[in-house]
Amino acid sequence: MDAFIIEGGNPLQGEVAISGAKNAVLGIIPAAVLCACSSKIDNVPDIKDVNKMIVILEKLGAEIYRENDTLIINTEKPISYDVSDYEEETGQMRASYYLLGALLGRYRKAIVPLPGGCNIGDRPIDQHIKGFQALGATVVIEHGQVKMEAPELKGAHIFLDVVSVGATINIMLAAVRADGKTIIENAAKEPHIVDVANFLNLMGANIKGAGTDVIKIVGVEEMHGCEYSVIPDQITTGTYMMAAAATEGDILIKNVIPKHMEAITAKLSEMGVVVLEEDDGIRVIGKHPLKAVNVKTMPYPGFPTDLQQPMAVLMTIAQGTSTITESIFESRFKYVDELRRMGANISINSRTASITGVKSLSATKIRTTDLRAGAAMVIAGLIADGETKITEIVHIDRGYENLQENLRNLGAVIRRVSEKDPACL
Ligand code: EPZ
Repeated sequence: MDAFIIEGGNPLQGEVAISGAKNAVLGIIPAAVLCACSSKIDNVPDIKDVNKMIVILEKLGAEIYRENDTLIINTEKPISYDVSDYEEETGQMRASYYLLGALLGRYRKAIVPLPGGCNIGDRPIDQHIKGFQALGATVVIEHGQVKMEAPELKGAHIFLDVVSVGATINIMLAAVRADGKTIIENAAKEPHIVDVANFLNLMGANIKGAGTDVIKIVGVEEMHGCEYSVIPDQITTGTYMMAAAATEGDILIKNVIPKHMEAITAKLSEMGVVVLEEDDGIRVIGKHPLKAVNVKTMPYPGFPTDLQQPMAVLMTIAQGTSTITESIFESRFKYVDELRRMGANISINSRTASITGVKSLSATKIRTTDLRAGAAMVIAGLIADGETKITEIVHIDRGYENLQENLRNLGAVIRRVSEKDPACL
């Protein structure tokens, strides 16, 4: 397993361009199998979860060509609706659940192993299943597989009990090919929901209201291939914003949609960070001392749970006591022990962490417990007073393209070592 070695204390300076959004493209790639067609998708990030999704589709029979960040997915020849043999691949990511909606939409049948993904709390898929059942599917879960069949797929009125990104996209994927009208109420509004809906509409679907909490879908008989460019990644953008703020840096983040960043921009500004919006860029200038703030994670447009962990690192060196309340995933504080090992002053009470700023973090060996915790550990390493070793960075590779190269270009001192590397012994 690879590790990062970071020599902390260098303010980030310069420019970085953001790659396509992981959680959008992981819905868009399965969406491309909804018809016997060929689609071209640009701005596809080179990250482990995407590459795994491509491997699964290839194993099902899709022909996929990749050149740089462009992907061509050809499903003109029929592909299999049975994913049960690829449990190893599906078990390594959450988004494999989108194969349920996409294959049900196309074939009225799907057999897909239960998904894996970051271990950040209870992650049921009951709302996905409720949606599929409302559309007319029978759903059986046995031997770790979700087996679905719908002789007829019919539009339905579905009220989600919780706001769920995954359930909203999954129901859209099946409903675009159902007979009649589907209404999803209490739908998630994240930018990636809108992006998947835009892609589906370009394929011939009829979806209205994506980005609001009521999505209306009129099923269509035919869909066709299209060309599409994925939106920039909101969470990656936020990660670089926080890295600049933490290191007292000054960076220009390009290829971003500033509107998607409003909750983060507002909080960073409250901490005293200067955030300047441009047309498709954001400049972030870190000003220390940072001020303590209170954050509560919420579905979009609230503060995203996926940036809770990087935000906590900023709070460890802010003046005063900050709080961070995690309202989406109950176990998303596992990384706190690692920050404590670096001298952070954090106490947890149920879903709220209270973080009292310290003068600096001290470098040591820390580990990555999940994807965004990994991003947080990297930021902690960037500000620590010496050499930090971050292990289990396989989690980071799932979702960040070229993180090490990008940070190096911004002036960070970071290198990747494998356990075989003598530097790691
Ligand atoms: C997606 O996960 C993202 N993953 C997560 O990103 C992200 O943290 C999360 O949305 C919230 O924004 C992908 O897009 C692949 P949810 P998902 O369904 O779909 C409960 C990252 O780091 N719930 O919106 O699993 C659930 O327990 C990852 O990139 C049900 O109760 O999240 C949670 O409390 C980690 N029943 C809440 O809803 C369900 O059927 C929101 O979950 C579904 C969800």
